Amino acid sequence: MFSNQVSAIYHSQSDQPNPPQTTNSQSETRCEYCRRKWKKILLTSLTTALMMTICVIVAIIMAKKHSDRLVTVARRRTTTTSVTTTTATTTITTTMFTKGWTTAAKLNINRYRHTATVLQNGKVLITGGYNYKGALRECELYDPSRDQWTLIANMSVARQDHTASLLTNGLVLVTGGNNSDIALSNALLYDVSANTWTNTRNMIHQRSQHTATVLENGKVLVVGGWKKGKPSLETTELYDPQTGVWTVTQNMNCRRFYHRASLLTNGKVLITGGLGLCSIGVSSKTSELYNPIRNAWIRTNDMNVDRQGHTVTVLNDGKVLVTGGRNSEDIVRKSAELFDVSTNQWTITGNMNTPRYDHSAVLLPNGTVLVTGGSSDSLLSSAELYDPSTGVWAITRNMRSARSHHTTSLLSDGKIFIFGGTYSDPEKFSEIY
Ligand SMILES: *[C@@H]1O[C@H](CO)[C@@H](O)[C@H](O)[C@H]1NC(C)=O
Ligand SMILES: *[C@@H]1O[C@H](CO)[C@@H](O)[C@H](O)[C@H]1NC(C)=O
Ligand SMILES: *[C@@H]1O[C@H](CO)[C@@H](O)[C@H](O)[C@H]1NC(C)=O
Repeated sequence: MFSNQVSAIYHSQSDQPNPPQTTNSQSETRCEYCRRKWKKILLTSLTTALMMTICVIVAIIMAKKHSDRLVTVARRRTTTTSVTTTTATTTITTTMFTKGWTTAAKLNINRYRHTATVLQNGKVLITGGYNYKGALRECELYDPSRDQWTLIANMSVARQDHTASLLTNGLVLVTGGNNSDIALSNALLYDVSANTWTNTRNMIHQRSQHTATVLENGKVLVVGGWKKGKPSLETTELYDPQTGVWTVTQNMNCRRFYHRASLLTNGKVLITGGLGLCSIGVSSKTSELYNPIRNAWIRTNDMNVDRQGHTVTVLNDGKVLVTGGRNSEDIVRKSAELFDVSTNQWTITGNMNTPRYDHSAVLLPNGTVLVTGGSSDSLLSSAELYDPSTGVWAITRNMRSARSHHTTSLLSDGKIFIFGGTYSDPEKFSEIY
């Protein structure tokens, strides 16, 4: 009877908006009232927060779907139209780059110290290299429009640290490289339409870790390297694709391997750094220019810093950007310098954020340079962008894999294709920027 009355009071009082407050039992009742009120407020705000979170998630998913569709549309546009207007290209580039790194299809054989060549049909030819099996004969083709890998005909000889050059006739010339401590003089031509390798004449010298540069006249200048019993070479030779004949050219001033070569806008070839010997001692700081018209070498100004395993990129204004590398005492460089083609002078530009060697550098369609991976104390996944107008480096998103001795290729749709450089984990992928 009494308890019934109490519960009745509780009920009626809790429903009252302003409960009277005098006795002990009444203040208890008021407390209960507050608790319920707070519970109600808490529940309401929790529900609101939950609904808002759901809304945000839905919005993000929808935005992502939309941007994916934009990318797909953009991709389709590049592949179906053979003539792309400048504005279309710009849109594609912007849409792609907002996504950062994406992984490409899983390749057949991971490797490093290979070559990657963008063919005239837009596919990328990967040749040789090295993995846990040793030097490789296997080659594959990557089709960017289908994100698809195909194993193709093997080379006759396994090799790493060789060169591959796209000739003006569409064939790819592969030269030298090494297979154990034997450097090769063997040279091959790959015909993509027939999927065949054919032997062309051997080089005059065996070489590995040399360079090959296609000149403006279509001939290929092969420079330096090492061979068994000769740790660095000063010899250079020219391949004529029309006759398949190799001819000796004048020797460089310095012997070197692990150097870099680039075709300048004035048609000359700039050779920088590497390991070897010179009148000044180690060649790592030296640079030389090959003049194809006079078929002659001159030693030009030294770089500010000695480097091997560095990168060299010809910028849109014709200047040459050299980044990183290490010296013969294994000091890894984060410095970068510019070569002025008109004055032959070297000047220091902004430092990279990370010291690195055996990294890669590629000129993006907007004129900036993307540098990826390499080694310093450990293998690097970091990437940075150089802006030639300010001389400043900016950190961009890390790659998904750390890698060195990898390749970067500019695809015909403006994307950057990164391949290999890591082989311990067969699941490691190639990536697209
Ligand atoms: C060039 O493109 C890269 C990659 O999208 C971008 O991060 C960078 O800001 C661009 N730089 C300039 C100067 O437009
Ligand atoms: C290429 O060579 C590897 C071993 O060196 C062999 O297993 C493979 O079958 C060859 N592939 C072709 C297409 O001949
Ligand atoms: C040449 O290639 C082999 C793999 O076949 C490698 O182990 C070796 O270190 C390479 N270089 C030299 C200088 O022998």
